[in-house]
Amino acid sequence: MILNTRKKIANYLQISEETLREIAPALPILGIGEKKYAYTTGSNYLEFIQKRISSLTSGDFDSVQSLVQSNRKNFLLDNIDALYKKNSNECITIAFNNLKGGVAKTTTVANLGAILAALNQKVLLVDMDMQNQLSTFFTKEIAFDANTKEIDNMSEDEIDFLCDIISREKYAEKSILTVIKDFADNKILNYDLVDEVITTVDIGLENKTLDILPSEWRLGRGLETARSIPNVSILLRKILKRAKEKYDFILIDTSPANMLSIELSFYASDYISLVSTPDQKAFQSFSNIIEELELLKKDVEEFKLDIKLDSLILSRTVENSNSQKFWKKMYKNKTKMKNLHIFLVPQKELFSSAETKNKPLISYGEKRSEALETISELGDYAISLINRKGK
Ligand SMILES: Nc1ncnc2c1ncn2[C@@H]1O[C@H](COP(=O)(O)OP(=O)(O)OP(=O)(O)O)[C@@H](O)[C@H]1O
Ligand SMILES: [Mg+2]
Repeated sequence: MILNTRKKIANYLQISEETLREIAPALPILGIGEKKYAYTTGSNYLEFIQKRISSLTSGDFDSVQSLVQSNRKNFLLDNIDALYKKNSNECITIAFNNLKGGVAKTTTVANLGAILAALNQKVLLVDMDMQNQLSTFFTKEIAFDANTKEIDNMSEDEIDFLCDIISREKYAEKSILTVIKDFADNKILNYDLVDEVITTVDIGLENKTLDILPSEWRLGRGLETARSIPNVSILLRKILKRAKEKYDFILIDTSPANMLSIELSFYASDYISLVSTPDQKAFQSFSNIIEELELLKKDVEEFKLDIKLDSLILSRTVENSNSQKFWKKMYKNKTKMKNLHIFLVPQKELFSSAETKNKPLISYGEKRSEALETISELGDYAISLINRKGK
């Protein structure tokens, strides 16, 4: 349920609007701007924080209301870090895959990453796709819709300026490829260089950012030559070694066309999330990747890795339809996992309009309630990841 006014949120929590205003900084309220959207959130995020209150006070208080009634509302503001701290001490790394293109992998990684960042998690997104769409997802200066009428009204100078911005290669020689090349040349991993190429982006909510290890188009060729590096499969795992000490979550976006990109991401991860769409071709690619996972298991034993298939993000579904039920069943049967977590994301025009503004839906200002509703199951996934105790 989406709550989009101060009154609705206060009613939900059974506290006064004035108290809500005081304790709002401690609550998962996903406000934007001064007035219009200052108070919007989902009941799943509020329930998350109420459960946190309960575990932090060993059950003495089980809701925001119970704290307020006992004059303990400052407890919230004094314990913000503890309230949002994820349960597992170790960084959780997840690779998002499918061998089919265009099934919403990048959209999922960007949106889930932004939700985790909105819930105060330290997030690193890793772009292992040479299309580098994740790298530029959040960056305003290249937001550009080729179909806009605006270009027709531009002066010659403005067109030159736009051409310059669009054609500039933002991450050329400042990407994960830079790190891979340096490693190939020097045979030692330069962690300072990894930190140098990591870039911080604003997610569009006050004081909330996340980090990206970007890609560039030459990564495709770069990976071809990297094949000769001994034990190349664990290269990304090596690259992320130091990052794993610093971040709560690392989400890896992969290329649909490059097996090495997928392999490296598997070997670097604790969990695999398969992203797919409700159609036959995507389902076939999904089946192929399940097979691929089986094949990799042998190697995995050799390197003592522990990778688990964690979830399926079934995107672009028609809400509450029979086809949604049908595909859910098909995918579940294929993995033979009774408890495979499936998160549904409906087909919505909002994704492309938000994307042209470089916004994840969690901070998209237009159609705010619909935007939050659309990603509500991704929000559930984020919450379950924060609550996860260990593997
Ligand atoms: N739920 C959705 N509803 C509508 N459009 C969506 C949805 N999810 C993603 N899209 C759109 O679908 C297109 C493809 O998505 P995306 O780039 O995330 O796929 P991908 O799997 O990463 O593709 P590739 O394999 O090329 O990397 C994008 O234009 C995106 O805006
Ligand atoms: Mg992609």
